[in-house]
Amino acid sequence: MFSLSDGDLEKTIVGCGDGPACFNAELTARVGNVVSIDPIYQFDVKAIRSRVNTVYPEIMDQLQKTKEKYIWENFSSIEQLGSTRMQAMESFLADYPKGKLEGRYVNAMLPKLPFANKQFDLALCSHYLFLYSEQVSLDEHVSSILELCRVAEEVRVYPLLSLDGQESEQLQPVMSVLSEKGILVSFKEVAYQFQKGAVEMLVAKTQKI
Ligand SMILES: C[S@@+](CC[C@H](N)C(=O)[O-])C[C@H]1O[C@@H](n2cnc3c(N)ncnc32)[C@H](O)[C@@H]1O
Repeated sequence: MFSLSDGDLEKTIVGCGDGPACFNAELTARVGNVVSIDPIYQFDVKAIRSRVNTVYPEIMDQLQKTKEKYIWENFSSIEQLGSTRMQAMESFLADYPKGKLEGRYVNAMLPKLPFANKQFDLALCSHYLFLYSEQVSLDEHVSSILELCRVAEEVRVYPLLSLDGQESEQLQPVMSVLSEKGILVSFKEVAYQFQKGAVEMLVAKTQKI
Protein backbone atom coordinates (compact mmCIF):
# COMPACT_ATOMS: atom_id res chain seq x y z
CA MET A 1 0.00 0.00 0.00
CA PHE A 2 3.04 2.31 0.28
CA SER A 3 5.04 0.97 -2.72
CA LEU A 4 7.98 0.35 -0.40
CA SER A 5 11.15 -0.50 -2.30
CA ASP A 6 14.10 -2.40 -0.78
CA GLY A 7 15.78 1.02 -0.51
CA ASP A 8 12.79 2.42 1.41
CA LEU A 9 13.00 -0.46 3.87
CA GLU A 10 16.55 0.58 4.75
CA LYS A 11 15.37 4.08 5.71
CA THR A 12 14.46 5.27 9.18
CA ILE A 13 10.67 4.93 9.30
CA VAL A 14 7.93 6.13 11.64
CA GLY A 15 4.58 4.37 11.32
CA CYS A 16 1.68 6.46 12.63
CA GLY A 17 -1.48 4.74 13.79
CA ASP A 18 0.17 1.34 13.38
CA GLY A 19 -2.16 -0.23 15.94
CA PRO A 20 -2.04 -4.01 16.46
CA ALA A 21 -0.44 -4.64 13.03
CA CYS A 22 2.87 -6.42 12.43
CA PHE A 23 4.87 -4.17 10.06
CA ASN A 24 7.21 -3.09 12.85
CA ALA A 25 7.73 -6.69 14.10
CA GLU A 26 8.41 -8.03 10.60
CA LEU A 27 10.70 -5.22 9.48
CA THR A 28 12.67 -5.35 12.73
CA ALA A 29 13.08 -9.13 12.33
CA ARG A 30 14.66 -8.63 8.88
CA VAL A 31 16.79 -5.71 10.15
CA GLY A 32 15.02 -2.40 9.80
CA ASN A 33 14.80 0.88 11.64
CA VAL A 34 11.17 1.58 12.47
CA VAL A 35 9.24 3.27 15.28
CA SER A 36 5.45 2.91 15.56
CA ILE A 37 3.16 5.31 17.35
CA ASP A 38 -0.42 4.72 18.40
CA PRO A 39 -2.54 5.69 21.43
CA ILE A 40 -3.24 1.96 22.04
CA TYR A 41 0.41 1.56 23.08
CA GLN A 42 -0.55 2.98 26.48
CA PHE A 43 -2.02 -0.51 27.14
CA ASP A 44 -0.31 -3.83 27.89
CA VAL A 45 -0.49 -7.10 25.91
CA LYS A 46 -3.46 -8.43 27.88
CA ALA A 47 -5.53 -5.26 27.48
CA ILE A 48 -4.80 -4.93 23.74
CA ARG A 49 -5.66 -8.60 23.04
CA SER A 50 -8.86 -8.30 25.05
CA ARG A 51 -9.90 -5.07 23.25
CA VAL A 52 -9.23 -6.57 19.80
CA ASN A 53 -11.11 -9.77 20.71
CA THR A 54 -14.06 -7.65 21.85
CA VAL A 55 -14.30 -5.57 18.66
CA TYR A 56 -13.45 -8.49 16.29
CA PRO A 57 -17.05 -9.80 15.91
CA GLU A 58 -18.33 -6.23 15.32
CA ILE A 59 -15.71 -5.65 12.60
CA MET A 60 -16.51 -8.98 10.93
CA ASP A 61 -20.21 -8.15 11.07
CA GLN A 62 -19.59 -4.71 9.55
CA LEU A 63 -17.46 -6.23 6.78
CA GLN A 64 -20.23 -8.70 5.96
CA LYS A 65 -22.65 -5.81 5.55
CA THR A 66 -20.27 -3.83 3.30
CA LYS A 67 -18.66 -6.79 1.51
CA GLU A 68 -19.28 -5.36 -1.99
CA LYS A 69 -17.06 -2.34 -1.22
CA TYR A 70 -13.95 -4.57 -1.16
CA ILE A 71 -12.01 -6.67 -3.68
CA TRP A 72 -11.73 -10.29 -2.54
CA GLU A 73 -8.48 -11.28 -4.23
CA ASN A 74 -5.66 -10.92 -1.70
CA PHE A 75 -8.17 -12.16 0.86
CA SER A 76 -10.56 -14.79 -0.50
CA SER A 77 -13.19 -14.39 2.23
CA ILE A 78 -14.10 -12.40 5.33
CA GLU A 79 -13.01 -15.37 7.46
CA GLN A 80 -9.58 -15.49 5.80
CA LEU A 81 -9.17 -11.73 6.26
CA GLY A 82 -10.16 -12.10 9.92
CA SER A 83 -7.67 -14.89 10.59
CA THR A 84 -4.87 -13.00 8.75
CA ARG A 85 -5.53 -9.91 10.88
CA MET A 86 -5.55 -11.99 14.06
CA GLN A 87 -2.25 -13.62 13.08
CA ALA A 88 -0.83 -10.13 12.47
CA MET A 89 -1.98 -9.10 15.94
CA GLU A 90 -0.32 -12.16 17.49
CA SER A 91 2.99 -11.34 15.69
CA PHE A 92 2.69 -7.78 16.95
CA LEU A 93 1.88 -8.87 20.53
CA ALA A 94 4.80 -11.33 20.56
CA ASP A 95 7.14 -8.44 19.68
CA TYR A 96 5.38 -5.71 21.68
CA PRO A 97 6.99 -6.00 25.17
CA LYS A 98 10.53 -6.10 23.72
CA GLY A 99 9.72 -3.42 21.15
CA LYS A 100 8.29 -1.15 23.83
CA LEU A 101 11.49 -1.46 25.90
CA GLU A 102 13.52 -0.67 22.76
CA GLY A 103 11.38 2.43 22.08
CA ARG A 104 9.90 0.94 18.88
CA TYR A 105 6.29 1.25 20.13
CA VAL A 106 5.50 4.72 21.44
CA ASN A 107 2.27 5.82 23.07
CA ALA A 108 1.58 9.02 21.14
CA MET A 109 -1.03 10.43 18.81
CA LEU A 110 -1.34 12.81 15.93
CA PRO A 111 -1.28 15.74 15.57
CA LYS A 112 1.58 15.98 18.10
CA LEU A 113 4.53 13.61 17.93
CA PRO A 114 7.37 13.37 20.48
CA PHE A 115 10.13 13.43 17.83
CA ALA A 116 12.76 15.89 16.61
CA ASN A 117 12.53 17.73 13.30
CA LYS A 118 13.37 15.37 10.40
CA GLN A 119 14.23 12.54 12.79
CA PHE A 120 12.99 10.03 10.17
CA ASP A 121 13.44 9.54 6.44
CA LEU A 122 9.92 8.30 5.94
CA ALA A 123 6.58 8.62 7.76
CA LEU A 124 3.78 6.15 6.91
CA CYS A 125 0.16 6.43 7.92
CA SER A 126 -2.37 3.79 6.86
CA HIS A 127 -6.09 3.51 7.52
CA TYR A 128 -6.42 6.49 9.82
CA LEU A 129 -6.23 9.86 7.99
CA PHE A 130 -8.82 10.26 5.17
CA LEU A 131 -10.40 6.87 5.99
CA TYR A 132 -11.97 8.34 9.13
CA SER A 133 -12.98 11.61 7.50
CA GLU A 134 -16.19 11.79 9.52
CA GLN A 135 -14.36 11.48 12.82
CA VAL A 136 -11.16 13.44 12.05
CA SER A 137 -11.68 17.11 11.16
CA LEU A 138 -10.03 19.03 8.32
CA ASP A 139 -7.91 20.95 10.87
CA GLU A 140 -6.74 17.66 12.39
CA HIS A 141 -5.90 16.27 8.94
CA VAL A 142 -3.85 19.33 8.05
CA SER A 143 -2.08 19.60 11.39
CA SER A 144 -1.37 15.84 11.39
CA ILE A 145 0.21 15.86 7.93
CA LEU A 146 2.20 19.00 8.77
CA GLU A 147 3.44 17.25 11.90
CA LEU A 148 4.40 14.16 9.86
CA CYS A 149 6.28 16.49 7.46
CA ARG A 150 8.06 18.05 10.45
CA VAL A 151 9.41 14.73 11.72
CA ALA A 152 10.14 13.05 8.34
CA GLU A 153 11.63 13.95 4.98
CA GLU A 154 8.81 12.19 3.15
CA VAL A 155 5.26 11.30 4.18
CA ARG A 156 3.01 8.65 2.62
CA VAL A 157 -0.68 8.29 3.49
CA TYR A 158 -3.03 5.51 2.33
CA PRO A 159 -5.91 5.17 1.50
CA LEU A 160 -7.41 8.41 0.23
CA LEU A 161 -10.98 7.13 0.42
CA SER A 162 -13.24 7.35 3.43
CA LEU A 163 -15.13 4.42 4.91
CA ASP A 164 -18.01 4.85 2.43
CA GLY A 165 -15.58 4.02 -0.42
CA GLN A 166 -15.72 7.54 -1.88
CA GLU A 167 -12.78 9.95 -2.20
CA SER A 168 -12.44 11.60 1.20
CA GLU A 169 -14.11 15.00 1.25
CA GLN A 170 -11.08 16.20 3.21
CA LEU A 171 -8.64 15.30 0.43
CA GLN A 172 -8.88 18.31 -1.89
CA PRO A 173 -9.06 20.89 0.96
CA VAL A 174 -6.05 19.20 2.62
CA MET A 175 -4.11 19.29 -0.68
CA SER A 176 -4.88 23.01 -1.10
CA VAL A 177 -3.84 23.95 2.44
CA LEU A 178 -0.63 21.90 2.24
CA SER A 179 0.29 23.43 -1.14
CA GLU A 180 -0.34 26.93 0.26
CA LYS A 181 2.05 26.08 3.07
CA GLY A 182 4.76 25.12 0.60
CA ILE A 183 4.49 21.34 1.02
CA LEU A 184 4.93 19.39 -2.23
CA VAL A 185 1.98 16.98 -2.49
CA SER A 186 1.28 14.38 -5.14
CA PHE A 187 -0.64 11.15 -5.71
CA LYS A 188 1.13 7.94 -6.54
CA GLU A 189 -0.45 4.70 -7.76
CA VAL A 190 0.12 1.66 -5.54
CA ALA A 191 -0.14 -2.06 -6.32
CA TYR A 192 -2.27 -2.91 -3.27
CA GLN A 193 -6.03 -2.66 -3.42
CA PHE A 194 -8.58 -4.03 -0.97
CA GLN A 195 -11.10 -1.23 -0.62
CA LYS A 196 -12.46 -0.80 -4.17
CA GLY A 197 -10.89 2.23 -5.85
CA ALA A 198 -8.18 2.72 -3.18
CA VAL A 199 -5.35 2.67 -5.72
CA GLU A 200 -3.35 5.75 -4.76
CA MET A 201 -1.36 7.09 -1.84
CA LEU A 202 -0.62 10.71 -1.02
CA VAL A 203 3.07 11.65 -0.96
CA ALA A 204 4.07 14.87 0.83
CA LYS A 205 7.52 16.43 1.03
CA THR A 206 8.77 19.68 2.45
CA GLN A 207 10.29 21.85 -0.27
CA LYS A 208 14.01 22.42 0.12
CA ILE A 209 15.06 26.02 -0.41
C1 LIG B 1 -7.88 1.09 11.44
S1 LIG B 1 -6.48 1.15 12.49
C2 LIG B 1 -5.16 1.02 11.30
C3 LIG B 1 -4.02 0.19 11.80
C4 LIG B 1 -2.88 0.00 10.78
N1 LIG B 1 -2.28 1.26 10.40
C5 LIG B 1 -3.38 -0.73 9.55
O1 LIG B 1 -3.41 -0.14 8.46
O2 LIG B 1 -3.75 -1.91 9.68
C6 LIG B 1 -6.42 2.86 12.97
C7 LIG B 1 -5.42 3.12 14.07
O3 LIG B 1 -5.33 4.53 14.28
C8 LIG B 1 -5.09 4.73 15.66
N2 LIG B 1 -5.38 6.14 16.01
C9 LIG B 1 -6.55 6.68 16.43
N3 LIG B 1 -6.38 8.01 16.66
C10 LIG B 1 -5.08 8.29 16.37
C11 LIG B 1 -4.29 9.48 16.41
N4 LIG B 1 -4.81 10.67 16.77
N5 LIG B 1 -2.98 9.41 16.06
C12 LIG B 1 -2.45 8.23 15.67
N6 LIG B 1 -3.15 7.06 15.62
C13 LIG B 1 -4.44 7.10 15.96
C14 LIG B 1 -6.00 3.71 16.32
O4 LIG B 1 -5.63 3.45 17.66
C15 LIG B 1 -5.81 2.51 15.40
O5 LIG B 1 -4.79 1.66 15.85
